Amino acid sequence: MIKTKLHSTFSKLITLDGSPTLISNEAQGVHEPMHNMKGAFSETIYVYERPLLQGLNYAESTFAVLSLGLGLGYNEILCAGVFLLHEKRTSTANFIKNVYLKSFEINRLLRESFLFWVQDKYSEFNSIYSEIAHLMALRYDIPEQEIKSLLGLWYDKGDWELCGKFPDELTQRDRFNVILYDAYSSRTHPEVWDEDFLDHFLRAHAMDQCSLGTYAAKGSLKRALLANQFHVEQPKGFGGKRSCTYATRKNRD
Ligand SMILES: C[S@@+](CC[C@H](N)C(=O)[O-])C[C@H]1O[C@@H](n2cnc3c(N)ncnc32)[C@H](O)[C@@H]1O
Repeated sequence: MIKTKLHSTFSKLITLDGSPTLISNEAQGVHEPMHNMKGAFSETIYVYERPLLQGLNYAESTFAVLSLGLGLGYNEILCAGVFLLHEKRTSTANFIKNVYLKSFEINRLLRESFLFWVQDKYSEFNSIYSEIAHLMALRYDIPEQEIKSLLGLWYDKGDWELCGKFPDELTQRDRFNVILYDAYSSRTHPEVWDEDFLDHFLRAHAMDQCSLGTYAAKGSLKRALLANQFHVEQPKGFGGKRSCTYATRKNRD
């Protein structure tokens, strides 16, 4: 496995599909790569593209996405990619008018680095972000630069917020029709997989029509989703994982 120390905090690993992921250096505690080692890009597409495409279909005038956590920004880059694809395929009259993307990332270095890349400033991670944008641009047949420009535009307009610790910066008014739940595992971060926590979170922050995706298939998550009237599917997970979770709620009773 190719491992390159990038910074005192992180090393870059190349996953089996050739795309990069990060792992904290041992002294920092969390010793779990951010993605499945069978393919970071492929896992992102497998788990998170579907809820985003569904969300775009029922977004009508607003596309409100929650991303936990930012990490290397795969899901933010994916979000911009599918949005650009949607615009390419849709008539101007049907363009989504309001976008609201709220990303959470507890690590300040990761927040700042990603924003630097979006704003064309230097960060040690820039080549990684560009590589991810390149892969996304190829997938959707869109210019790579448009992905970064769209994220920059969303940020400047306040349509994309880059927050710290989840769930601390959620406000009472935050409601999402897409939830990309990419936290570390319950072994590392048990609190965000707790059933009562998830139940309250969904009750307060999921729109009536909502899609959620996550690489995990925790019983606590499934119970909280069912209690909130989501239809839950837990098919085979990515890269040999037993299951992942897709959940949708088309309408509330
Ligand atoms: C599995 S990685 C996410 C990978 C990311 N979606 C990507 O595409 O690169 C989990 C991320 O969540 C962050 N994190 C962990 N706990 C958090 C919390 N309570 N609030 C916000 N971010 C958190 C970690 O620092 C890490 O970057």
